[in-house]
Amino acid sequence: MTATITNAKESLSQESELRALRDALHQRLDQLLPAGGERDRVGAAMREGALAPGKRIRPLLLLLAAYDLGCDKNHPGLLDLACAVEMVHAASLMLDDIPCMDNAALRRGRPTIHRQFGQDVAILAAVALLSNAFGVVAGAEGLSDACRAQAVAELSAAVGLQGLVQGQFRDLNEGATARSEEAIADTNDLKTSMLFSATLQIAALAADATPAVRQKLGCFARDLGQAFQLLDDLADGCSGTGKDINKDAGKSTLVALLGAEAVRSRLHEHLHSADQHLSVCQHGLATRRFMHSWFSQQLATFS
Ligand code: IPE
Ligand code: IPE
Ligand code: MG
Ligand code: MG
Ligand code: MG
Repeated sequence: MTATITNAKESLSQESELRALRDALHQRLDQLLPAGGERDRVGAAMREGALAPGKRIRPLLLLLAAYDLGCDKNHPGLLDLACAVEMVHAASLMLDDIPCMDNAALRRGRPTIHRQFGQDVAILAAVALLSNAFGVVAGAEGLSDACRAQAVAELSAAVGLQGLVQGQFRDLNEGATARSEEAIADTNDLKTSMLFSATLQIAALAADATPAVRQKLGCFARDLGQAFQLLDDLADGCSGTGKDINKDAGKSTLVALLGAEAVRSRLHEHLHSADQHLSVCQHGLATRRFMHSWFSQQLATFS
């Protein structure tokens, strides 16, 4: 009984902490984005792409992981680093949705950016968001020059030809034909895990973590990214995601190859492995708790 009450209290306080962090992220993103308006349609599209109600998983992870690693809650640059990661993510979604890529109509419960603003504006806004993100990291306070440069390098690797760009290219060019399990997992690593990896490495840089901890965080991020993409693929046929339903029809995902049941069990294996990576380095309690409660809630809703 006492344990149940303690658990309920913990989950309530976790919920309210997450709500406060989400609000802080939204407010800071708002400040870091251009004002936009009738005469600045690119700025307005940047705002819509980044401020529309997303789950904010990556910036939340950055903050929680940094706190877990001992980073001061008043670190002057941490929120900006988290916002920069969210800007990169928002840019990747805007590009992912355009007609020559996934040709999506709905995102975060709203018409996609190219449907609201046109493809030209959507592409330019995505490029400007990426550029803004790098500018924000380059100007983040409270990090040594060396750490700031490393944070820029992490983000650059996550976006670049051996990161999101390569993952997206493979997904578009190989997704329509049969692929091996390994090929799908490699593509998911590039298109999804790499940004999780940069997110956690940037948290580690802000917290001045040791190379051994950073190595564990890299392994954690890989498993987490794999689990995240599997969940996204499982949810493709569900309503209530704020996205088009059955967008992956005809695509060679692991759900199509192995079936939903096998993918659910693979997802749990990745979560277990992610958990192990963090538990052995004695850090990450809030991060692990967040990961488990978030996945349980999503799996209950969408799979
Ligand atoms: C969608 O990411 C793209 C994937 C990597 C699967 P999210 O599911 O985090 O999207 P938002 O930010 O909540 O809209
Ligand atoms: C993730 O894959 C795309 C990016 C990393 C940008 P999806 O194409 O499946 O993502 P959703 O389902 O459109 O959010
Ligand atoms: Mg896609
Ligand atoms: Mg897509
Ligand atoms: Mg998807």
